[in-house]
Amino acid sequence: RSIGFIFDLDGVIVDTAKYHYLAWKKLANELGFEFTHQQNELFKGVSRKRCLEILLDIGNINATQEQFDAWMVDKNEDYLAYIENMNASEILPDVPRVLDFLKDRQIPIALGSASKNARPILEKVGLLSYFDTIVDGNNVTKAKPDPEVFLIAARSLGVNPSDCVVFEDALAGIQAANAAGMISIGIGDAKILSEANYNFADFTEMDTEFLQTLVTYEV
Ligand code: BG6
Ligand code: MG
Repeated sequence: RSIGFIFDLDGVIVDTAKYHYLAWKKLANELGFEFTHQQNELFKGVSRKRCLEILLDIGNINATQEQFDAWMVDKNEDYLAYIENMNASEILPDVPRVLDFLKDRQIPIALGSASKNARPILEKVGLLSYFDTIVDGNNVTKAKPDPEVFLIAARSLGVNPSDCVVFEDALAGIQAANAAGMISIGIGDAKILSEANYNFADFTEMDTEFLQTLVTYEV
């Protein structure tokens, strides 16, 4: 029996939520309405297409298919400009410590993200080589909270879903991990992520003892 670890990207490994927010806010402002940080919470873990649907709902805007597709492109171009110069300094605290802990023990590691930009971001921050498999927005048909992304990751690692640990910062992601029958660990606001099996504000709160209990199935 072997264990596998699956990391979400945005909000777990890097704080890209702020760049997604800026790009959505720019589009909202251009369309003549405001987009708040609070509303941005609903966008975490959610696919680009679904985010735009929600955004247009907020602004009460009816779009033609053509406009919709053009705004999808605009938003992503703005987002890509924001992340262009990302580097290792934007890795969230203690992520490398946890990745090294797992690597040292030869435990398989997957990425399970809704983003279609996952691979270039991991490359920019220098973490790509840690991942045995990358499952992202290019590989899935059903968005979180559907468990598809994590089930594909588990299969690709060759690990039973019930033997996978998932780190997530979004409620939709915790729900996806739970639906996959995996151990869900919320990284962030425990109130928002109360459905998780375990909660940590960030990885600095997660000590070696806890990591050790995870890899030895004592949880
Ligand atoms: C998720 C983010 O990881 O990826 C969402 O939490 C984002 O906010 C989604 O909408 C899709 O990302 P991208 O990079 O494909 O637009
Ligand atoms: Mg996330």
